[in-house]
Amino acid sequence: MQRLTFIMLAVAVLTPVARAQNAGVEQLYSNNCMSCHGNRGQGGGAGTRTLLTDELFKQEHDRRFFDAIKQGLPDSGMEAFGETLDDAQVWGLVGYIRELQYRAYRARVGSLRPDGTGVFQTQHHAYRVEKVIERGLDTPWSVDFLPDGRMLVADRPGELRIHSTGKPGGALSKPIVGTPKVRNQGQGGLMEVTVHPDYSRNGWIYLAYSHAIDGNGMTRIVRGKLSEAAGGLKWTDEQVIFQARPEHYSRGDLHFGCRIVFDPNDPSILFFCIGERGRGELAQDLSRPNGKVFRIKDDGSIPPGNPFADRNDACAAVWSYGHRNPQGLVFDLDGNFWDTEHGPRGGDELNLILPARNYGWPLVSFGFNYNGRPLVSPWPEKPAAATDPVVDGALVMPVLRWSPSIAACGLDVARGEAFSNWAGDLFAGGLAGETVQRLRIKAHQVVEQEEIVHGMGRVRDVVCAPDGTLYIVLNGPDAVIRLVPAK
Ligand code: HEC
Repeated sequence: MQRLTFIMLAVAVLTPVARAQNAGVEQLYSNNCMSCHGNRGQGGGAGTRTLLTDELFKQEHDRRFFDAIKQGLPDSGMEAFGETLDDAQVWGLVGYIRELQYRAYRARVGSLRPDGTGVFQTQHHAYRVEKVIERGLDTPWSVDFLPDGRMLVADRPGELRIHSTGKPGGALSKPIVGTPKVRNQGQGGLMEVTVHPDYSRNGWIYLAYSHAIDGNGMTRIVRGKLSEAAGGLKWTDEQVIFQARPEHYSRGDLHFGCRIVFDPNDPSILFFCIGERGRGELAQDLSRPNGKVFRIKDDGSIPPGNPFADRNDACAAVWSYGHRNPQGLVFDLDGNFWDTEHGPRGGDELNLILPARNYGWPLVSFGFNYNGRPLVSPWPEKPAAATDPVVDGALVMPVLRWSPSIAACGLDVARGEAFSNWAGDLFAGGLAGETVQRLRIKAHQVVEQEEIVHGMGRVRDVVCAPDGTLYIVLNGPDAVIRLVPAK
């Protein structure tokens, strides 16, 4: 044992280059950068300034940082690392500096705090927080509203419940009997509940969940109805709307998606998304459901107009591909279609979703691996703009990315009934980031980005209620809160 340790130490000492190749970004940073830039990026050595300023913590500087690290800054005494580090490692270090900057920013700014009367101030609105559901939930993922104001709540282990008023003071029902059995494992479970826009006429409710065949899992969509039964509500009339082929189910517990949205121009069409299930390469394979956004009719059939419907080698429901793990999906008030998705570490994305486009994963991506290892994927030199002429398979780069990652989850648009100054803005949630961010979009670009919630819990979903108040589904605490305008 002692001898083995000795040999390993000797190998480690004798082959510093090999070690550096394999090292995570933390290691790369402490080996190469810390002596001058300090262990937290605070600077001090060799006349360096701090990297931890608000000005430098801006996405637009990524390229400048990359160039500085690769080519050095001969005039200031920063050496070039282009010979010893490859591009993926340099981009990994840019991402790591973002994490150091975020840590410093958070330590300095803290969470948003209310004033003495419980009012939170933001750029365009003041709001209060109301607790809608405080107990009785395991890991809520999604809420949606019935026309009578009641609120459906999907809980990851597989329970669908109904809340009597959808407002503070209402009561949460027992689980609705007869909902499908879910594979509650890893990142899967009951993920989404969506009420059909014509619910008053047809009574359909849609669920997305991870379904098991022989222990393997895949995302499945069903619809069903609610009917009164002795002692509560019952799930009836269930129909399978989307199911992958059994050979496309897999063991892993990663990246199921899933959100469902209806086409605002045609309530008989819906879109949903599935993550790549931890198999990045399959996001590029049109014959596989992994890592795709789908478009289907509300009865599960394929509507006219799907871009790959007439290809033998493609799944006819596919609308766009190259997604990693989308968990936010929304149409904004102008009819633009957006997703947010979990990228690798430092690479969460907001994407404008267009038919037939390739969102790049795992060919190109921002960020680096969660274990700290740089990604092999190159950083694109010139991201194609989403509005470039339509070319099937054209790579579309994110409109916005979060570095560090917020663990993007849940996305909705404010219509403005309650918060008129927010009308049309997108609201993106983040699990690890414990954040809700308001994004104002003009001409497909984010022109304002503001964190309006931080530190209330992991944000699983954000939903604009029919009355325009903003509902936030939290995990840890497992609760539903809402933001209401402060008078
Ligand atoms: C020998 C000291 C030294 C080492 C080692 C060093 N730097 Fe620098 N670095 C500097 C100096 C000096 C500057 C210019 C002054 C400043 O911006 O603080 C600089 C500037 C930078 C900048 C540019 C900031 C801007 O304003 O654009 C970045 C980013 C950076 N360094 C990252 C790194 C990384 C990552 C490493 C490790 C791979 C590294 N540096 C290693 C000394 C060093």
